[in-house]
This record gives sequence, structure tokens and C-alpha cells, in this order.
Amino acid sequence: MSNREPAPRTTPARTTSSAGAAAVLAAERIVKTYRRGWRRDSVRVLTDANLRLAAGEIVGLVGENGSGKSTLMKILVGSLEKDSGRVVRHGSLGYCPQNPILYERLTCDEHFELFARAYGLELAVADRSQQDLYDELGFDQYRQSRVEELSGGTRAKLNLGLALLHDPDLLLLDEPYAGFDWDTYLRFWELTADRRDRGRTVLIISHFVADEERFDRIVHLKNGKTEG
Ligand SMILES: Nc1ncnc2c1ncn2[C@@H]1O[C@H](COP(=O)(O)OP(=O)(O)OP(=O)(O)O)[C@@H](O)[C@H]1O
Ligand SMILES: [Mg+2]
Repeated sequence: MSNREPAPRTTPARTTSSAGAAAVLAAERIVKTYRRGWRRDSVRVLTDANLRLAAGEIVGLVGENGSGKSTLMKILVGSLEKDSGRVVRHGSLGYCPQNPILYERLTCDEHFELFARAYGLELAVADRSQQDLYDELGFDQYRQSRVEELSGGTRAKLNLGLALLHDPDLLLLDEPYAGFDWDTYLRFWELTADRRDRGRTVLIISHFVADEERFDRIVHLKNGKTEG
């Protein structure tokens, strides 16, 4: 769960590029190789990944299976070490991992309570936000259910809800709607657009070409490099 704990809120200033555009996140020349097994076989995943995210944009990160999208996102979050390169982030962070990190024995309400404390939210703010998320994503009826009783789609809703609870400045979402039904998928885009309109920044890993028009721009990851 430490993957998703909130980033410090102490850096209100934005990074300014030479072109003058403010960046909520700037990643430069990221390189990552995994080494596995006793022979230390290596898999070179990222060779030169670069990304700048400005306030108030929804950016898609696309690429084939195994191209390194989740690896790059984990490096942006800070849960995975990079070999080299630089990541600068400002403001609060919400992260929705590809594989939900949830506690089987806790209910949805208990998850929200736990995360509200980790995010340092006031009780009233947390309660309102939690109720909005139950309503927006449509899983209020499961608030008292333990995760072990939930369907895959409802787990995905909780996984996303926990990333959104504190209304972070920057949202990093790794295939957040993979398990959603159509109505939830549409509601997901409504709530994402709403956050973008309020100046939040959203990076979404996606596979669906059909989503292209919903993004402000798309970054492709290929052969370890970002394009676009
Ligand atoms: N912990 C790990 N140890 C070794 N290799 C890894 C590890 N995690 C990922 N890899 C390898 O790194 C490459 C990139 O994996 P990653 O999960 O980043 O891809 P992805 O683009 O997110 O794929 P997908 O679309 O299937 O989610 C793959 O070849 C994968 O097998
Ligand atoms: Mg992935």
C-alpha cells in the first residue's frame, strides 16, 4: 500500500521548462533494466523515456503488452528504482496500480478510512469525498462488504476510488477501467474530465484505440523510448 501513500504537499511551485510551460511532473531520460534469476539475466525495458505533464491535461500512455508502461508509471510514483534519469513531481499524488493493492479482510468503508488517515484528510472532507466516489462509480451497496467478497469490477472501483479520495493534483492511473462495465466506464470519463476541468492532471495507461479522442494527447512507449 505504501505505493499509494500521498506525496508530500509541500511544493506548490511548478517546474518551468525552457519553453515556459508549467509542469506538474517532469521525467527525463529514464533508464530501467530488470535483472532476474541467479544468472542475473537482464531485461532492458526503458532506454530513454521522457514525459512532461502540465496542469489540466489528460494524457494517455499507450504501448504493446510488455513495452514498459507500468514500469515507467511505478518509477514516476517512486515505488520502483530507476537506473538513471530524473523525475520531478509537484503537489499531491494519487496512484491506481494495475493490480489492485487491497486488504481481503477489510471492507470498502474501512479502506477509505485507512487511506483518509494516510492522506491526512479531515473527517468531514473524507466522508463527502468517499460518498461522492460511491455515487460516481456506483458501488455504494458494497460499502460494508469485505474485499474478499467483491467481484473483480467492484475491486477495480475501490482501487480507483482510493486513488481519487484526496482529490490529488496528479493522478497516475494504470489501466483503471479494465474491469468496468460500460456505464461505469462512461462515468469514469465524466469524473476524469471533471477533475481535468478543475486543473488536475491525469496520466492514464490505456490499450483502447477507441479512447483516443478522450485524451488531450497521447504518448507512445516503444522500444524503451517515449514518442509524442
Ligand atoms: N519485477 C520484474 N522483474 C523482471 N522483469 C519484469 C518485472 N516487471 C516487469 N518485468 C518485465 O518488464 C517488461 C515490461 O513490463 P511492464 O509491466 O512495465 O509492461 P506493460 O507495458 O505495463 O505491459 P502490459 O500492457 O501487459 O500491462 C516485461 O518484459 C516484463 O516481463
Ligand atoms: Mg502494465
